[in-house]
Amino acid sequence: MKFLSPVVPLAVLPLLVQAHAGKYAHHNVIPRQASATGSDIAPPSQIPDSAGAAPSTDSFVLSLTSINPTALPLSAIVSTAQPAPTQEVSPIYPQGAVPPNIIGAPPLPDDILQKDYPTPDDVPPVNSAEVEEWIREVANSGVPIPDIPINLEGGCTVAGNAVAAADTDRSRCWWTCTGCTRKTDITQCPQKGTFGLSFDDGPAPYTPDLLDFLDQQKLKATFFVVGSRVYYRPDLLRKQYMEGHQIAVHTWSHPELTTLTNEQIIAELGWSRRVIQDTLGVTPNMMRPPYGDIDDRVRAISVAMGLTPVIWTQGFDTEDFEIGSGGTTVQQSLQNWERITAAASTSDKGFIVLEHDLFQQTVELATGYILPDAIGHNYTIQPIVTCMGLPLNDAYMETNNNQTHPDPAQGAQAIFTGPTKALLPPTHTPASASGPGTSTSPSNNVNKKNSNSARAVFSVLGMGATSLLAGLISILA
Ligand SMILES: *[C@@H]1O[C@H](CO)[C@@H](O)[C@H](O)[C@H]1NC(C)=O
Ligand SMILES: *[C@@H]1O[C@H](CO)[C@@H](O)[C@H](O)[C@H]1NC(C)=O
Repeated sequence: MKFLSPVVPLAVLPLLVQAHAGKYAHHNVIPRQASATGSDIAPPSQIPDSAGAAPSTDSFVLSLTSINPTALPLSAIVSTAQPAPTQEVSPIYPQGAVPPNIIGAPPLPDDILQKDYPTPDDVPPVNSAEVEEWIREVANSGVPIPDIPINLEGGCTVAGNAVAAADTDRSRCWWTCTGCTRKTDITQCPQKGTFGLSFDDGPAPYTPDLLDFLDQQKLKATFFVVGSRVYYRPDLLRKQYMEGHQIAVHTWSHPELTTLTNEQIIAELGWSRRVIQDTLGVTPNMMRPPYGDIDDRVRAISVAMGLTPVIWTQGFDTEDFEIGSGGTTVQQSLQNWERITAAASTSDKGFIVLEHDLFQQTVELATGYILPDAIGHNYTIQPIVTCMGLPLNDAYMETNNNQTHPDPAQGAQAIFTGPTKALLPPTHTPASASGPGTSTSPSNNVNKKNSNSARAVFSVLGMGATSLLAGLISILA
């Protein structure tokens, strides 16, 4: 049963939500972080208002097909909301448990998180034995890594990125600024009316509430998880995986990938892949770049590491991420969602929307409003791998039979044809003195038990230092 569950009956058709923008007035609405503006350049025919713009009148009406009767009122979904109680992870899936839905999956491994990992929420050092092994993997993949300059932080509107952002000859194919995609990328579901459901940045404190709702509605999603969040919440990742959701890579520390060196990108993707594999026994083969920040250099490295880039349909960003920081309002996010449903109705393809399970506000918006409305629209709601017509075992390297979902590195030589850059030779060992490409000491690797208390606070909040900083930047911008 996909639509109305007997467990959580949804109020149906048509339900008007009155909201008064004056109450949350954002004259001079804060522009969202420049690095995340990929969605702001949707073709006007699809998404009329530029995302993030203030409502033009003092009050506006949202027309949703359906709302969860237990939804919090919109007036409670604000940046200043008191933290709601969180649930314990339940059940805890033990070592040896086998996921029922994945053909050929290994049992859950022993010994989760007893290994040394890089410092959570920092770009990992590039001179560890692990990263050097992954650099060799990329070098041996046969995928040419384009010689594209490293971008400055801050995205498309930063003056120093002007040439890259214009990308007039499409040699960079920087999606964030131009919407450019390659054959490697997944940005929509093939079938009209299909909603590829995904949530980024968890596992986080309110993810269990989202999982409860999805379970009641018999829905599955794709979770693009941050390695540093997995490090703190391995049992929650196991629950997501064991209950049939797709797990995919969203880097170790959530940086703008186009601002990193090749070796740092490898370290970000490699550690995220590794902590997931250590926790689940399987390695995802899809990734989403934080902020949608991907160009041909990031693309080539991703596919060389066996990771298919998954972005979101151009313009299909709820901007839910900005509610917690006060950068936007829940009303504005719902208006974004209504523009998305309008655009979906005129597209002959299905679509992928950007949402987050990182904050209580984003989970409340999804479970109270967006998902009930999506159900009311009769969308076919599926994880990305499923909407692509693939079985769930195709989503992991260990269980992919490579037939319906071939290694993305295949055919990459025909895509990345410009000048290339050699990777730093991984010659020195972690015990040796600094060598070429050494940006940080390997002693930056920490064991979980030694992680400092400031990071523990971030973990309680479910936020990385990076996301706090991103929030701050967007407030100051
Ligand atoms: C969804 O399906 C139901 C039942 O078939 C139908 O009554 C309703 O009009 C549909 N809603 C939309 C938005 O298409
Ligand atoms: C699928 O391809 C990967 C990488 O190319 C390889 O390691 C794996 O053994 C292959 N799986 C099968 C079932 O052939």
